Amino acid sequence: MEDLGLSFSGRSAFVTGHTGFKGSWLSLWLCELGARVVGFSLPPPTKPSNFEVSQIAERLAGHIVGDLRDKQALALAMREARPDLVIHMAAQPLVRESYAQPAETFETNVQGTVNVLDAVRQLEGPCQVIVVTSDKCYENAGQLWGYRETDRMGGRDPYSASKGAAELVVRSYRESFFNPAELASHGKKVASVRAGNVIGGGDWAKDRLVGDLVRAFAAGETALLRNPRSIRPWQHVLDALHGYLMLAARMARDDAAWLCEGWNFGPDQGTEWPVERLAASFCEAWPGARCRVDGETAQAGGETITLRLDSSKARLLLGWRPRWNTDQAVRHTVSWYRRHYAQGGSMRQTCLDQLKAFTATET
Ligand SMILES: NC(=O)c1ccc[n+]([C@@H]2O[C@H](COP(=O)([O-])OP(=O)(O)OC[C@H]3O[C@@H](n4cnc5c(N)ncnc54)[C@H](O)[C@@H]3O)[C@@H](O)[C@H]2O)c1
Repeated sequence: MEDLGLSFSGRSAFVTGHTGFKGSWLSLWLCELGARVVGFSLPPPTKPSNFEVSQIAERLAGHIVGDLRDKQALALAMREARPDLVIHMAAQPLVRESYAQPAETFETNVQGTVNVLDAVRQLEGPCQVIVVTSDKCYENAGQLWGYRETDRMGGRDPYSASKGAAELVVRSYRESFFNPAELASHGKKVASVRAGNVIGGGDWAKDRLVGDLVRAFAAGETALLRNPRSIRPWQHVLDALHGYLMLAARMARDDAAWLCEGWNFGPDQGTEWPVERLAASFCEAWPGARCRVDGETAQAGGETITLRLDSSKARLLLGWRPRWNTDQAVRHTVSWYRRHYAQGGSMRQTCLDQLKAFTATET
């Protein structure tokens, strides 16, 4: 693995969504790489959360509890952090919740992205910006092959549409204010990233497969599967974050305009599994765990059946590739939760051990 420490050591990173599942892992990783990390987000969205059980706040240079929709507070926090790098992850990230709260989902995911990019406009120095959207930003045409970065944005449910819209916001800001052809005048490089369905220790989100499984397993109950046949690009959280960090590192040292685009970071094609296979794999790895299809709600959630990402661009142009296959991702995820439920206490060392194992994995 390239030495990411050389790229981030001593740099200042502003992370939105640092109290969330992906944001807490990212913040810890950036701190390990020697970056000065300031986080801005609402409190952790779940209880427990990786942010709390891994005591991430202690490692940060700043832990700001704030709302993306408060554009003044956001702009002030970003200005004070004087970031070299902004990673925008904060979002309402759940499809089912987006049916219950569509307006809030659009406000946070779309206007929130506008507010982040507007705050970036007000920064004086140069900086790199990575906006995290989703594999669900693409118009799902029901195709069996993977979506590419050049495919149309879309999304039928409010969450997916909000992520497609956030991509359009990024493109508009880039073309209007952060045009790579005029880099010398504004100094801002802006890219967006679309990962797959991320699994890993510390995700307790409601109505997400892993959160639902581990809650049931820990309580000795049978986990219920809603969308057993849905095929998803599952990947370990560290693989997605590794893609974001490799892109940010390259953007820091290279002024090429093609870096300031959209990037997919999904699992190897052909390794996407249906929900029922991933759940069965969790059950095998967790002694005594059981799951079954929930006959009443199966496939009623409105999520599309097949979703694959084509990440050839990141492989060819950045040299990124997944390090952990789905079996390895499940194994590390299960071992994280089993340790949490067996021992309690801080999970930070477990996160760091998994980060070390990930970094040492040869591709
Ligand atoms: N987890 C996945 O499988 C997955 C897949 C594709 C894309 N994503 C995207 O990755 C990002 C992180 O997802 P996650 O799984 O870590 O979600 P999460 O729910 O664990 O974290 C979301 C974070 O956003 C913050 N937040 C929510 N609303 C906010 C607001 N109005 N103002 C400020 N902060 C707010 C929360 O406090 C939290 O820190 C999101 O943008 C999500 O859409 C996640």
